[in-house]
Amino acid sequence: MKKGLGLMTGLFILLGVAVNGQENSMKLDFAEANQVINKNIYGQFAEHLGRCIYDGIWVGPDSDMANVNGYRQDVLEALKELQIPVLRWPGGCFADTYHWKDGVGPVQDRPNIENVFWGGVIEDNSFGTHEFLNLCEIIGADPYISANVGSGTVKEMVEWIEYMTADSDVPMANWRRENGREKPWDVKFLGIGNESWGCGGDMTPEYYSDLLRQYSLYARQYGKGKFERVGCGANGDDYRWTDVLMKNAGRNMDALSVHYYTIATGNWGSKSAATGFDEGLYIKGLKQGLRMDEIITKHSEMMDKYDPEKRVGMLVDEWGIWTDAEPGTNPGFLYQQNSMRDALIAATTFDIFHKHADRVQMANIAQVVNVLQAMILTEEDKMILTPTYHVFRMYAGHQDAVSIPVELSSENYSFGTDVIPAISGTASQKDGKVNVNLSNTNPHKSIKVTVDLSSGEVKKVNNGTVLTAPEFNSVNTFDDADVVSPKDFSQYKFSKNVLEVTMPPLSVVALELE
Ligand code: AHR
Repeated sequence: MKKGLGLMTGLFILLGVAVNGQENSMKLDFAEANQVINKNIYGQFAEHLGRCIYDGIWVGPDSDMANVNGYRQDVLEALKELQIPVLRWPGGCFADTYHWKDGVGPVQDRPNIENVFWGGVIEDNSFGTHEFLNLCEIIGADPYISANVGSGTVKEMVEWIEYMTADSDVPMANWRRENGREKPWDVKFLGIGNESWGCGGDMTPEYYSDLLRQYSLYARQYGKGKFERVGCGANGDDYRWTDVLMKNAGRNMDALSVHYYTIATGNWGSKSAATGFDEGLYIKGLKQGLRMDEIITKHSEMMDKYDPEKRVGMLVDEWGIWTDAEPGTNPGFLYQQNSMRDALIAATTFDIFHKHADRVQMANIAQVVNVLQAMILTEEDKMILTPTYHVFRMYAGHQDAVSIPVELSSENYSFGTDVIPAISGTASQKDGKVNVNLSNTNPHKSIKVTVDLSSGEVKKVNNGTVLTAPEFNSVNTFDDADVVSPKDFSQYKFSKNVLEVTMPPLSVVALELE
């Protein structure tokens, strides 16, 4: 009895400190650093949706716009800078309506189809397998192909695999050669269906797990490589889906996906605007984003039941904030602005992914250009980088680094009845460098954070970068592209294994230590 009371008192003191805002600290545990943060957590997603592919990435070689073999030159350069480890394509919902043979061969012979999920517009198939896989080679990203299970066949998928990866004298590889590509591409990931519980076939988990077993059996890669077969995972908090999939088909996949989108209002029917929102929607957006921790924890528990060794990776292959589309744009194009709030959602989500690096092997934010929480927005020949783009750059040092567990103590930031921790953070080490990232979600208050490095051997701070903005709803526009852009940061003091960082209100900070 006494022991129990003692424990409770200890807990109370801990919470009391946090709530009163007396102490904000992050303690790094170098001794326990052993889990690699898979670089693929920094993956992207490009779907035939709205202006992501056409206009955003691909304008065609005959365009007046500056292009490199049909790819927009400005976007191509920005994508290279982003160090994208993996790129998912062609969908999304589009993938389960996509028949890959429509998108190879002479462009003038490729058929038009209607993009039934996204605005009903005509898809002329001018961007197909060659255009995508060549793009991946140019930007140095591994391709993640999403195969059509909803309206396709096993034969269609197998032929696609043969077309992309076979080097021998077989019909599909020969057709690829006729179409101008001698050597196979290196395809690392194959998704077997997308959202099979919804737009990918409206299936039950029992029915889909049988299909997954069947498709997986024939999803053999040609040549020397071996790709990861990704089972279609759950919608947000549908833990039963994961349970059934792991039970019935755990052996038949290398990874299982999950999709979780942040909806500030929590209501898909009325998601709220991407710009001009008030503080209530600011904190609600962040709070909904932080639910990612619970989503991953509970799906992980389900996976642990059948796979305690963690052989099957969890891929969060769609995530990000989803708001109402920008007024005046086609609602089916999912074009939205991107604010400082969204940058904080990205940063705090990465902190969560790092915490779960033992199970989360990939994540693909939706989507790379002009769709949802995009990295890049374009308008005719203009391009802007979003606040989220900058966060990806500021976290790039964590790719394939060893995660350093952190013990975080934070005061709260609250508005109305909503309460979240003001400070979030993460740390990792690679090549003798230590990367520390911190975020301050409080838009009204600068906060001093004490970073305890005493378990390691840090000698100096090499550099610091900060992303902040005048308001939580500040955005970059085509007239003013640098409202939210990274700056050098020097508001820290380092002495005797302690780093004291003064976090401006509403900020993400990246520090490189050595
Ligand atoms: O990313 C937009 C859409 O969201 C995808 O096509 C689909 O998989 C999800 O519902």
